[in-house]
Amino acid sequence: MAEERDLMDQHTNDASEALAELSLRPQRLAEYIGQQAIKDKLTVYIQAAKSREEALDHVLLYGPPGLGKTTLAMVIAHELGVQIKTTSGPAIEKPGDLVALLNELQPGDVLFIDEIHRLPKVVEEMLYSAMEDFYVDIVIGEGPTAHPVHFPLPPFTLIGATTRAGSLSAPLRDRFGIVERMQYYTPAELTAIVTRSAKIFQAPIETDGAHELALRSRGTPRIANRLLKRVRDFSQVAGHAAINLPTVQMALSLLQVDDQGLDEIDRKLLTTMIELYHGGPVGLKTIAANIGEETTTIEEMYEPYLMQIGFLSRTPRGRQVTLAAYEHLGIPMPTE
Ligand SMILES: Nc1ncnc2c1ncn2[C@@H]1O[C@H](COP(=O)(O)OP(=O)(O)OP(=O)(O)O)[C@@H](O)[C@H]1O
Ligand SMILES: [Mg+2]
Repeated sequence: MAEERDLMDQHTNDASEALAELSLRPQRLAEYIGQQAIKDKLTVYIQAAKSREEALDHVLLYGPPGLGKTTLAMVIAHELGVQIKTTSGPAIEKPGDLVALLNELQPGDVLFIDEIHRLPKVVEEMLYSAMEDFYVDIVIGEGPTAHPVHFPLPPFTLIGATTRAGSLSAPLRDRFGIVERMQYYTPAELTAIVTRSAKIFQAPIETDGAHELALRSRGTPRIANRLLKRVRDFSQVAGHAAINLPTVQMALSLLQVDDQGLDEIDRKLLTTMIELYHGGPVGLKTIAANIGEETTTIEEMYEPYLMQIGFLSRTPRGRQVTLAAYEHLGIPMPTE
């Protein structure tokens, strides 16, 4: 019974977190903080497409998780003044699923496919003609009565998102007219995002507190928002009117998020490489097996940031821990 209740609490919690995420999402380009270079270009492309009364060219957004790809796709649709249909690569199992989705689009609408690198091959191939010439050829019926049908589509915009641009086939990648890489956010941008989210939560945060949180969020809005929610809990229980710097520091140290934003798994990854493999080079699979994480999780969630801050480097023989990481962890670097 108690277990059941726990489960239910967990569910409501997930639901309210999902709702919070939704309300945190900016609606317009002007509210979307950071990614300035991408925004500048998109502003022009969107205005041009609207004045020509054409669908916007297909857009591919790639980069580490939590940087705002889904949010940006929604903002683009909103700015274009069209509807957006959202799906993901693994959800489209067969060509028929894709046809059903495409069939619902109005001229100019956006089809958003998250994790587009995980589309089944047959679906991907069908997408080629849909993207390029707005039609699909489908086979109706089976056996001797089977016959091909040429199915025209309204002009639409495909927005694809992926954490792994390298896993995308060349023919698919080449069909996107607009290809943009999402960047990690600067501390100033994250400070602005945290301050905005805190206002939406009606839990104001002092500027130095917001800045500290920003510094420890790995350049990632999703992490910044998640940490903010936890810090808010501590602040509220302490009875403070606004979230201040000491509360941020106290809460983050309890959460074991260090001053570079590294969490337990980052530190485990680095210390394992140091303790078992003299800091590398060591292969990704070996690291994954040792710390009990999936290779893709390490590649997509942990490595990019560790490389970005210069704690990890990639060599032809594997991953290597850098001097900066040894210094950060307070471990002396072995001399050869
Ligand atoms: N530029 C931004 N300004 C304000 N908030 C942002 C911005 N980018 C992202 N966020 C916030 O961060 C959260 C995560 O963003 P989003 O879901 O769009 O990331 P994503 O790149 O699609 O991640 P994933 O790869 O995991 O799907 C959202 O709840 C949103 O509120
Ligand atoms: Mg997303």
